[in-house]
Amino acid sequence: MDDTYRENILDHYRHPRNYGSIENPDIAQEEDNPLCGDRIQMNIRLNDGVVKEVRFKGEGCAISLASASILTEMIHGKSLEELKALGKDEILKALGITLSPTRLKCGLLSLKVFQAGAYDLEGWPGEEDEEEW
Ligand code: FES
Repeated sequence: MDDTYRENILDHYRHPRNYGSIENPDIAQEEDNPLCGDRIQMNIRLNDGVVKEVRFKGEGCAISLASASILTEMIHGKSLEELKALGKDEILKALGITLSPTRLKCGLLSLKVFQAGAYDLEGWPGEEDEEEW
Protein backbone atom coordinates (compact mmCIF):
# COMPACT_ATOMS: atom_id res chain seq x y z
CA MET A 1 0.00 0.00 0.00
CA ASP A 2 1.32 3.43 -0.91
CA ASP A 3 2.20 5.28 2.31
CA THR A 4 0.84 8.58 1.02
CA TYR A 5 -2.55 7.04 0.33
CA ARG A 6 -2.52 5.15 3.61
CA GLU A 7 -1.82 8.41 5.46
CA ASN A 8 -4.60 10.12 3.54
CA ILE A 9 -7.10 7.40 4.48
CA LEU A 10 -6.09 7.54 8.14
CA ASP A 11 -6.32 11.32 8.12
CA HIS A 12 -9.87 11.22 6.72
CA TYR A 13 -10.78 8.51 9.24
CA ARG A 14 -9.42 10.47 12.20
CA HIS A 15 -10.56 13.88 10.98
CA PRO A 16 -13.59 13.23 8.77
CA ARG A 17 -14.51 16.13 6.52
CA ASN A 18 -18.11 17.34 6.42
CA TYR A 19 -19.10 15.16 9.36
CA GLY A 20 -22.55 15.78 10.82
CA SER A 21 -26.05 16.30 9.52
CA ILE A 22 -28.14 19.00 7.84
CA GLU A 23 -31.47 20.25 9.11
CA ASN A 24 -34.23 19.61 6.56
CA PRO A 25 -31.92 18.25 3.85
CA ASP A 26 -33.08 17.83 0.25
CA ILE A 27 -31.63 14.34 0.24
CA ALA A 28 -31.24 12.03 3.22
CA GLN A 29 -30.14 8.45 2.86
CA GLU A 30 -28.83 5.76 5.13
CA GLU A 31 -27.48 2.35 4.17
CA ASP A 32 -25.44 -0.32 5.79
CA ASN A 33 -23.15 -3.12 4.81
CA PRO A 34 -25.15 -6.16 5.93
CA LEU A 35 -21.98 -8.23 6.19
CA CYS A 36 -20.45 -6.17 8.99
CA GLY A 37 -23.14 -3.72 10.09
CA ASP A 38 -21.19 -0.61 9.14
CA ARG A 39 -23.63 2.21 8.51
CA ILE A 40 -23.38 5.50 6.63
CA GLN A 41 -25.94 8.28 6.71
CA MET A 42 -25.71 11.26 4.40
CA ASN A 43 -27.51 14.56 3.97
CA ILE A 44 -27.35 16.87 0.98
CA ARG A 45 -28.69 20.35 0.41
CA LEU A 46 -29.15 21.29 -3.23
CA ASN A 47 -29.25 24.64 -4.91
CA ASP A 48 -30.48 24.53 -8.51
CA GLY A 49 -29.56 20.86 -8.74
CA VAL A 50 -26.05 21.44 -7.42
CA VAL A 51 -24.69 20.03 -4.15
CA LYS A 52 -24.44 23.13 -1.99
CA GLU A 53 -23.87 21.38 1.33
CA VAL A 54 -23.12 17.77 2.18
CA ARG A 55 -22.70 15.99 5.50
CA PHE A 56 -22.29 12.41 6.56
CA LYS A 57 -22.33 10.39 9.75
CA GLY A 58 -21.39 6.82 10.22
CA GLU A 59 -20.02 3.96 12.17
CA GLY A 60 -17.56 1.66 10.61
CA CYS A 61 -14.09 0.77 9.55
CA ALA A 62 -11.40 3.21 8.49
CA ILE A 63 -11.94 2.55 4.79
CA SER A 64 -15.72 3.00 4.80
CA LEU A 65 -15.55 6.22 6.81
CA ALA A 66 -12.55 7.62 4.96
CA SER A 67 -14.21 6.96 1.61
CA ALA A 68 -17.36 8.75 2.82
CA SER A 69 -15.29 11.74 3.91
CA ILE A 70 -13.39 11.80 0.59
CA LEU A 71 -16.66 11.47 -1.30
CA THR A 72 -18.15 14.52 0.41
CA GLU A 73 -15.20 16.55 -0.86
CA MET A 74 -15.56 15.08 -4.35
CA ILE A 75 -19.24 15.89 -4.74
CA HIS A 76 -19.39 19.31 -3.13
CA GLY A 77 -20.26 21.78 -5.89
CA LYS A 78 -21.16 19.00 -8.33
CA SER A 79 -24.55 18.60 -9.98
CA LEU A 80 -26.88 15.80 -9.06
CA GLU A 81 -26.28 14.37 -12.53
CA GLU A 82 -22.55 14.35 -11.93
CA LEU A 83 -23.13 12.59 -8.61
CA LYS A 84 -25.23 9.95 -10.33
CA ALA A 85 -22.55 9.49 -12.96
CA LEU A 86 -19.76 8.90 -10.41
CA GLY A 87 -18.31 5.45 -10.88
CA LYS A 88 -16.60 2.97 -8.63
CA ASP A 89 -13.30 3.64 -10.35
CA GLU A 90 -13.31 7.30 -9.33
CA ILE A 91 -13.74 6.64 -5.63
CA LEU A 92 -11.28 3.75 -5.72
CA LYS A 93 -8.77 5.97 -7.50
CA ALA A 94 -9.27 8.63 -4.82
CA LEU A 95 -8.67 6.01 -2.12
CA GLY A 96 -5.56 4.99 -4.03
CA ILE A 97 -5.19 1.49 -2.68
CA THR A 98 -5.98 -1.96 -3.98
CA LEU A 99 -8.83 -3.50 -2.01
CA SER A 100 -9.66 -7.16 -1.53
CA PRO A 101 -13.23 -8.19 -2.52
CA THR A 102 -14.37 -7.88 1.11
CA ARG A 103 -12.74 -4.50 1.60
CA LEU A 104 -14.15 -3.37 -1.75
CA LYS A 105 -17.58 -3.24 -0.10
CA CYS A 106 -16.06 -1.01 2.59
CA GLY A 107 -14.62 1.33 -0.01
CA LEU A 108 -17.84 1.53 -2.00
CA LEU A 109 -20.42 1.70 0.81
CA SER A 110 -20.49 5.49 0.83
CA LEU A 111 -20.88 5.69 -2.94
CA LYS A 112 -23.82 3.32 -2.68
CA VAL A 113 -25.43 5.52 -0.03
CA PHE A 114 -24.87 8.76 -1.93
CA GLN A 115 -26.11 7.39 -5.22
CA ALA A 116 -29.14 5.73 -3.63
CA GLY A 117 -29.95 9.15 -2.19
CA ALA A 118 -29.43 10.89 -5.51
CA TYR A 119 -31.65 8.41 -7.33
CA ASP A 120 -34.34 8.54 -4.67
CA LEU A 121 -35.36 11.92 -6.04
CA GLU A 122 -36.39 10.22 -9.24
CA GLY A 123 -36.57 6.62 -8.14
CA TRP A 124 -33.88 4.10 -7.26
CA PRO A 125 -32.80 2.33 -10.46
CA GLY A 126 -33.73 -1.10 -9.18
CA GLU A 127 -32.63 -4.27 -7.50
CA GLU A 128 -30.73 -5.57 -10.52
CA ASP A 129 -28.42 -2.55 -10.35
CA GLU A 130 -27.87 -3.14 -6.66
CA GLU A 131 -26.64 -6.65 -7.47
CA GLU A 132 -23.53 -5.11 -8.98
CA TRP A 133 -22.37 -3.77 -5.63
FE1 FES B 1 -17.78 -2.86 7.31
FE2 FES B 1 -15.69 -1.93 6.33
S1 FES B 1 -15.80 -3.50 7.79
S2 FES B 1 -17.67 -1.47 5.68
